[in-house]
Amino acid sequence: MLGAVVWRRLVQVDQVLPGCALPCDPEGPAGPEVVVWRTVGGRVVAMDARCPHQWSHLGVEGVVDGDELVCASHFWRFSPEGVGTKVNVHGRRDPKADIAVHPVRERDGWVEADLPPPDRRGTR
Ligand code: FES
Repeated sequence: MLGAVVWRRLVQVDQVLPGCALPCDPEGPAGPEVVVWRTVGGRVVAMDARCPHQWSHLGVEGVVDGDELVCASHFWRFSPEGVGTKVNVHGRRDPKADIAVHPVRERDGWVEADLPPPDRRGTR
């Protein structure tokens, strides 16, 4: 049986404007590292912050490009669903490792996410 949904406040809605990515650690240094970002079209996303390639922090190294978050370290790209790809110099898009995305909502001026409990982190 899955646990109950627990919405945690991450950032205020007006802190994450379209095209913006922010680091967030809602449980302090011992908790999960999350990046909150908003597509240029306005969709808000909460995902694990560490790039699955070489662990860059996407709240620092992440740049929003349209509907994707791009890791500026080596240009892996992540969709709002967490699908990882990289576009080569010829324009071919190759699959790369995916990243966990967390359920998110905007409520009472806050971006809130349902983060997995400690024993289930890294499994979404
Ligand atoms: S660390 Fe993110 S693409 Fe290499």
